[in-house]
Amino acid sequence: MGAKINRPCQYKCAAFQLFSRFHQIHCISVSEMHYLVFLAVLFAGSALATVQEWGQCGGSGYTGDTVCTAPFVCTVLNDFFFQCLPAGSGTSTVSSSTTTTNKSTSTSTSKTTTSITTTSTPAGPSATGFVKTSGTKFTLNGAPFTVVGENAYWPALLGYSPTDNDKAFADIAASGATTVRTMAFNEVTSPVGVYYHLWNGSTATVNTGPNGLQTLDILIASAKTHGLRLIIALTNNWSDFGGMDVYTTQLLGPGHPHDTFYTNPTVIAAYKTYVQAIVSRYVNETAVMAWELANEPCCAGNTPASATCNSTTISTWAANISAFIKSIDKNHLVAIGDEGFINAAVAHNFDYPYQGDTIGVDFAENMGISTLDFGTFHMYPDNWGHSADDISWGNQWITDHATIMKSANKPVIMEEYGLTSSARTTIYPMWYNTVISSGLTGDLVWEAGSVLSTGETPNQGYEIYPTDPAYKLLQAHAAALKARDGSS
Ligand SMILES: *[C@@H]1O[C@H](CO)[C@@H](O)[C@H](O)[C@H]1NC(C)=O
Ligand SMILES: *[C@@H]1O[C@H](CO)[C@@H](O)[C@H](O)[C@H]1NC(C)=O
Ligand SMILES: *[C@@H]1O[C@H](CO)[C@@H](O)[C@H](O)[C@H]1NC(C)=O
Ligand SMILES: *[C@@H]1O[C@H](CO)[C@@H](O)[C@H](O)[C@H]1NC(C)=O
Ligand SMILES: *[C@@H]1O[C@H](CO)[C@@H](O)[C@H](O)[C@H]1NC(C)=O
Ligand SMILES: *[C@@H]1O[C@H](CO)[C@@H](O)[C@H](O)[C@H]1NC(C)=O
Repeated sequence: MGAKINRPCQYKCAAFQLFSRFHQIHCISVSEMHYLVFLAVLFAGSALATVQEWGQCGGSGYTGDTVCTAPFVCTVLNDFFFQCLPAGSGTSTVSSSTTTTNKSTSTSTSKTTTSITTTSTPAGPSATGFVKTSGTKFTLNGAPFTVVGENAYWPALLGYSPTDNDKAFADIAASGATTVRTMAFNEVTSPVGVYYHLWNGSTATVNTGPNGLQTLDILIASAKTHGLRLIIALTNNWSDFGGMDVYTTQLLGPGHPHDTFYTNPTVIAAYKTYVQAIVSRYVNETAVMAWELANEPCCAGNTPASATCNSTTISTWAANISAFIKSIDKNHLVAIGDEGFINAAVAHNFDYPYQGDTIGVDFAENMGISTLDFGTFHMYPDNWGHSADDISWGNQWITDHATIMKSANKPVIMEEYGLTSSARTTIYPMWYNTVISSGLTGDLVWEAGSVLSTGETPNQGYEIYPTDPAYKLLQAHAAALKARDGSS
């Protein structure tokens, strides 16, 4: 057993890499074209008469038009993003465009000037409070909160217009989702497309411009409009959109073991600088549910693991970074973002996902870290050598994590799972039954798909578009989980 090990998520990474390749050869990919169109609209400024519903109409660093098409009202969603919405949608509206208030930490200068009138209108329930935990459950304002929904890595990264992102989040919300997991990283060595962290040799700069964090601002505001909470990962094990190996290579040179990322003080300091920039920008943002240290951290990467890397390497790192995040952000939950590998190789006949210690993730050990609020696991039976028994193997994988969840008394979510075959419409309901009956806290499918003005969002075979039969399963499952939890 374990002779042929398919690494997780290969398909999704193939598409990521395709996107990166467009960057490297400086072709204009379709996504970059979206981005250029988006910028053209953004910078058209005074050429535009008024902003349509859902469009941006202000915010720090924004230089475009500020007047909404009637009857929509320019509404302050956060310092960085004002949006044209129906009257009464928010807590404050922009009353004029003739006086200046520099109301943010941004260093950008604004050619359009705004004044903010904050009213005492209470925010809607979807906009209030931070998601917290209570035992193995999540709560919101003291009531049960069900984490169910989808992953969507693409909205902030592929340069979609704010209108298209709103459509994508509307599709996700209509599936019954409460929560979306997305990515807040893109390490680049030359500035192309949407990027967050630009490296020049060993010097990294956080991009706070319109093609950087302002894209994330818009995305977060859009999630809030649709009543969705975001789980946001801060770097990637994989090389898609840069990831850990970029830090190590830029700071220390090529050829270091992948796990140098977790142990080298210079690399840790640079990563913490990035984490601080993101986390402190959104520290008061209720639409953010949780920060994740990385997508799928493990010992091996583009370069092999060092001989000493084991699960202690990553749990030590995770304890350190999560404590750091808690020191600058007391509002949000923190998790690792790992695949939840279990350290029980012998008992499971060396089945790959149970070789946690070798891979570098010991799920049960990590659940004991006090500065981590919940646990995560991923599930790709077809990529992990279990295409012949994906129902029964998946049910066991869910049950094993639910057992550890109960002994750790913290929430656990199956935060990625997916199949590319049409058999998923019969297999997902089996897994959902196990999620519900095992008491597992929640789950997020890999991943959401939408048809936008530019066509389909990335389609790697896992995506569920609103017209897919599996979309109805998502709706039914979300309703069933909420009914189990007594949440609305
Ligand atoms: C606003 O910011 C600009 C650019 O940073 C600066 O020149 C100006 O003095 C600021 N105005 C106020 C009122 O702080
Ligand atoms: C990169 O850094 C070098 C050395 O500090 C500097 O000369 C160069 O202008 C920088 N390049 C960019 C694009 O900022
Ligand atoms: C981590 O990412 C690298 C690519 O950078 C990949 O080769 C490796 O399989 C990944 N490991 C896991 C367990 O996800
Ligand atoms: C977050 O809220 C706290 C308390 O109200 C305030 O002191 C802090 O300046 C706020 N930070 C940001 C980035 O808005
Ligand atoms: C990992 O390796 C270190 C020595 O390099 C050792 O002290 C530690 O106990 C190991 N952890 C596990 C879980 O085996
Ligand atoms: C994290 O590691 C740094 C050194 O890299 C150390 O200075 C700091 O005290 C550690 N913090 C925690 C909470 O372990």
